Amino acid sequence: MADAEPKTNQEQDVNPWSVAGAQNEAGEVVAIDYLALSKKWNTSLIDDAILERFEKVTGHKPHRWMRRGLFFSHRDFERILDRYEEGKPFFLYTGRGPSSGSLHLGHTIPLEFTRWLQEVFDVPLVFMLTDDEKALFNEKLTFETALEFAMENARDIIALGFDVKKTFLYSDLKYVSNHILMNAWEFSKYIPFNQVRGAFGFDGSTNIGKIFFPAVQCVAAFATSYPEIWSDEPAKTRTKEIASIPCLIPMGIDQDPYFRLLRDNAHRMRFPSPKPALIHSKFLTALQGAGGKMSSSNPNSAIFMTDTAKQIKAKINKHAFSGGQETLELQRELGGNPDIDVSYIYLTYFEEDDAKLEQLHKDYKSGALLTGELKKLAIEALQKVVADFQERRAKVTDEVLESFMKPRKLHWGGNPNPKPKADKETKDLPIQTKA
Ligand code: TRP
Repeated sequence: MADAEPKTNQEQDVNPWSVAGAQNEAGEVVAIDYLALSKKWNTSLIDDAILERFEKVTGHKPHRWMRRGLFFSHRDFERILDRYEEGKPFFLYTGRGPSSGSLHLGHTIPLEFTRWLQEVFDVPLVFMLTDDEKALFNEKLTFETALEFAMENARDIIALGFDVKKTFLYSDLKYVSNHILMNAWEFSKYIPFNQVRGAFGFDGSTNIGKIFFPAVQCVAAFATSYPEIWSDEPAKTRTKEIASIPCLIPMGIDQDPYFRLLRDNAHRMRFPSPKPALIHSKFLTALQGAGGKMSSSNPNSAIFMTDTAKQIKAKINKHAFSGGQETLELQRELGGNPDIDVSYIYLTYFEEDDAKLEQLHKDYKSGALLTGELKKLAIEALQKVVADFQERRAKVTDEVLESFMKPRKLHWGGNPNPKPKADKETKDLPIQTKA
């Protein structure tokens, strides 16, 4: 598409279909202002108090991505911590839009974080592949191809290490029927077009599939959408008890508009569900630097999970934006800026050791560390992440795929040492956890 004029002084635009940083007067894209986004959308920030509470309640140090503000925002996360503390059931829900056959590193961030949460909380996870959405929103993508992408992506997702006993992974085109479809129809009945038109940028020419789709993505957060996972004898109809099980949704912040709609309307269902809790991540910076995110449509912006060690090395060396000085002499003299340096930014994602990271920050700033040295560290870290992934991916057979995608009862443990609160509402739910 040929843009008529370069637009300048544009505000940042973040929505479920595109993410663009603001542009300054010179027409340069600047970094996404996540604080402004949180303020505009009225989300809560992940602050020290909630990190402390997380550690106290779970006995786990918060994930480095929480400690470092990469998962930076939430809605009602503390309510999930309360649930966990009391040993009451809840579940995780996340998803992926299969827009291509393979994932890049940026896609894996919210997914790896979800895997970690599943391990820490020991709870069920439902994972939605929105092949329907991708075909509806992309003129050229057929439903058949979107479904093929979903199945390929499913293997990648499994390779991230989710626990099959606790994970139900599904393609919308295959699974959406029965209870989840009834939920979607019922939910859609409560949403006038006016309520989504603005928030989702729909107008009179929008195909009606797109207009209905948000209902599908939303109701996936209702426990009643999955009668099979709670019991060996799945409920024949939706029930009030199952509807009352709350959900936590880890996601990139761009997905928030869907779940605001859900939180505003969940109580209107015949069997109401609590407002789902949300936890939001930032986007993994593109190789070119702040203001962009890794994108499949620009191969030089992203590290793909199929990249070889050699490709990773070449991409970082050639494309990773550097906050260092032009020459070695200047770097030694003036030091560089780690905060805009893409290699450093990637290390904040993958270096576990806080002290080591802080030392790198200091040394880069002082000039003790050179750009080439920093790039080398980033290359090694990414090569390891991708190689480990590829090793696990090679083991995902058809049988493994099938075992994750079969609707069935899940088995989980929850909090091993709950502190139940005296509460009349805690009747035993018709839910079996352990086998
Ligand atoms: N719409 C999302 C995408 O295009 C996929 C998705 C569905 C999702 N349900 C979700 C993402 C829940 C995060 C949380 O990628």
